Amino acid sequence: MYLTRLDIQGIRNICSASVSPIDGINIFYGANGSGKTSVLEAIYLLGRGRTFRSRYTSTLINHQARKCTVFGDVNSSEQAVSYTVGVSRETSGAFQFKVDGQRVTASSSLAEAIPLLLMNSESFLLIESGPGGRRRFLDWGVFHVEQQFQRVWAQFQRSLQQRNKLLRHDKISRQELISWDNSFVGLSLQLTEMRKDYFKLIEPIFYELIERLTGITGLSLGFVQGWDSEMSLEAVLAENFERDARRQTTHAGPHRADLKIQIDGRAASNVLSRGQIKALVAALIVAQGEMFRRARGKQCVYLFDDLVSELDQDYLLRLLRVLAGAKAQVFVTGTEYAPLVNVLENEKIENFAVFHVKQGTVNSLNGLALKGEAL
Ligand SMILES: Nc1ncnc2c1ncn2[C@@H]1O[C@H](COP(=O)(O)OP(=O)(O)O)[C@@H](O)[C@H]1O
Ligand SMILES: [Mg+2]
Repeated sequence: MYLTRLDIQGIRNICSASVSPIDGINIFYGANGSGKTSVLEAIYLLGRGRTFRSRYTSTLINHQARKCTVFGDVNSSEQAVSYTVGVSRETSGAFQFKVDGQRVTASSSLAEAIPLLLMNSESFLLIESGPGGRRRFLDWGVFHVEQQFQRVWAQFQRSLQQRNKLLRHDKISRQELISWDNSFVGLSLQLTEMRKDYFKLIEPIFYELIERLTGITGLSLGFVQGWDSEMSLEAVLAENFERDARRQTTHAGPHRADLKIQIDGRAASNVLSRGQIKALVAALIVAQGEMFRRARGKQCVYLFDDLVSELDQDYLLRLLRVLAGAKAQVFVTGTEYAPLVNVLENEKIENFAVFHVKQGTVNSLNGLALKGEAL
């Protein structure tokens, strides 16, 4: 699936822009502060209902405007369907999501309509930061591949919150907690089974793409379920009762799941250089996209912000080769187009388009204009 048209209104310094991206590699170049990342934010808003730059989506709205709106036309040629997705946010906090003319309320409906994967300057945190980011990263895939995941995940979150609320009561008895734990354990096992099944499927794809995109050897990936895998969750909860009650929180469960990434038994974050870590993150992201394609029979959309400054030349070359081979729709930004276009032309990859972003306006550059400018 890919976006055939993008209409952006009131997103940061973009008052109004209309873009017709191609089903290939779309390069957005322009000076710092011209609005390149804002274009990616607009696409992200369509697929996720929020921004990736702040916890507050309202920061996206142009300072002179009361709301921002993005429309995207999606062509899913694999399923021979096309539809429009629209998202608007007002400074008052009101929002509206529409898929194919129908109002939807959950951002998961947007994610289903426009599945997105993003890499930006923060993405190295996937390896260098705590388990939360890796858990969300893995769950992106489980959500898209396993239909029941969203429902079970939401039920589990409610159950966990309820359990923690019980723990905050002064005199929680072990008996009260045990009766609650029946459903907590049931949901935990369901959730974990889905994650495990998904990990088993994606594991070989991870290794394949890590090899193709990074050349790093000796790396191992493991799924960590969130409690001692030698013990039942009931037994772990019973063992943790005093500690959970004292700290008023649940220490073990699927909310503590993680992806363990190691090199020869050591945490990858302690062994690899920052450059290697970024290449590894790109490989993990593309592996998710590839798994999505195999499971769903269609492509997701990739967003790469400031790609040239994120990846060294050799990694960049490997990534563009893989993305062009995957025939996915990709949005890439950079201050110049030459470093990207040179690589693409050397590789004889022709399926790319270039857009110039200048003070919040976006213009498509045709082949002639490109040739006219010295590369
Ligand atoms: N809410 C906003 N309203 C208007 N302008 C904004 C808003 N938020 C950020 N900007 C401005 O938008 C411009 C574009 O930012 P950005 O997309 O990050 O540029 P680029 O990625 O090209 O460097 C910046 O100059 C920034 O100051
Ligand atoms: Mg930027």
